[in-house]
Amino acid sequence: MELNRRTVIAGAAAAGLAATTLGGTAEAATGGRAPSKKLFGRLADGTKIYRWSLANGATRLKVLSYGGIVQSLEIPDRHGRYRNVSLGFDTIEEYVAKSPYFGALIGRYGNRIANGQFTLDGKSYQLSVNDGVNSLHGGVKGFDKRVWDIEPFTKGSDVGLCLYRTSLDGEMGYPGTLKVKVTYTLTRHGDWRIDYEATTDKATVVNLTSHVYWNLAGEGSGSIYDHELKIAASRYTPVDPGLIPTGELAGVAGTPFDFRKARTIGRDIRVADQQLLHGKGFDHNWVLDKGITGRPEWIATLKDRAFGRTLKMATTEPGLQFYSGNFLDGTLVGTGGHIYRQGDALCLETQHFPDSPNHASFPSTVLRPGQTYRSTTIHSFSA
Ligand code: BGC
Repeated sequence: MELNRRTVIAGAAAAGLAATTLGGTAEAATGGRAPSKKLFGRLADGTKIYRWSLANGATRLKVLSYGGIVQSLEIPDRHGRYRNVSLGFDTIEEYVAKSPYFGALIGRYGNRIANGQFTLDGKSYQLSVNDGVNSLHGGVKGFDKRVWDIEPFTKGSDVGLCLYRTSLDGEMGYPGTLKVKVTYTLTRHGDWRIDYEATTDKATVVNLTSHVYWNLAGEGSGSIYDHELKIAASRYTPVDPGLIPTGELAGVAGTPFDFRKARTIGRDIRVADQQLLHGKGFDHNWVLDKGITGRPEWIATLKDRAFGRTLKMATTEPGLQFYSGNFLDGTLVGTGGHIYRQGDALCLETQHFPDSPNHASFPSTVLRPGQTYRSTTIHSFSA
């Protein structure tokens, strides 16, 4: 399928998926606000970066044309008090200079590829390496550091943005020219839905995701260790000291990785477990029990007990990277003017498994000419 940036189709229709909602909010829907943009800043070469604002239901979203970054996502608590629940910066300069992927689109490959190397159809590829010897989140200049073409849409009761980018053959070492379309939709229930699509002209590997750092009590408000998390996964992929999966699918039963029943993130994060030592906390891929699905299915619920804000996630993907913000080290000041410290947010990245190109037993991330990569994730908020 040709991804024509002039053809603006709402994500749900484009992906041929039924609108799925996981609950909506207790708030009365406020109605969609057509997306509007204003200048956010300029890159060093003068390129203008815009910030798009859109709202629907009780959700307010701000998105940058740089990295497709969610700069702010506001939702109400059980008393109707709005907070921005996503970490970010106030200026484009900070995003360019030092962002640990705050709110960004990740590509071409979410998480790590060992030594930045893989072999496909007998040919070996060397990727851009940016995490020790490994390639992380697409390499030195991944999709998070690229300017996206954005077209707004209003369709029925949905509002949203279509983000387009063409990644040329050889970019960051990846084969094939990859045409990418990402649709951010806000439904009338205030759900934030992401539909990813990509096509290629040569066999390649693709694994797209979104890197929002959640703190449901509000960004800059302290740690997320009291948040309750539930993940529908009986297994996870243990890693080596470089955070590369060993290839094993290990059971979570009896380990700190068992989130099949809701538990607080802080409960076992200090257990002397070798895997927690490798990650400096949770930084692992959960093998979702539902596997790959044609339609997004519920996989995780995150809840801030104090204020009641709840995030439910559904996806078509087989994996979920839960990263407990271990590398936040008190050196960044966020949008609210507060310092971000270790554990002040967490990421829930829907994906195929890390380093899949080097593990024949993992679900394949290969995309070939004539095929369309599709992936959908829905975030539903309530209080
Ligand atoms: C990875 C972490 C990494 C972080 C970068 C996460 O997706 O799992 O290991 O440090 O992204 O902010």
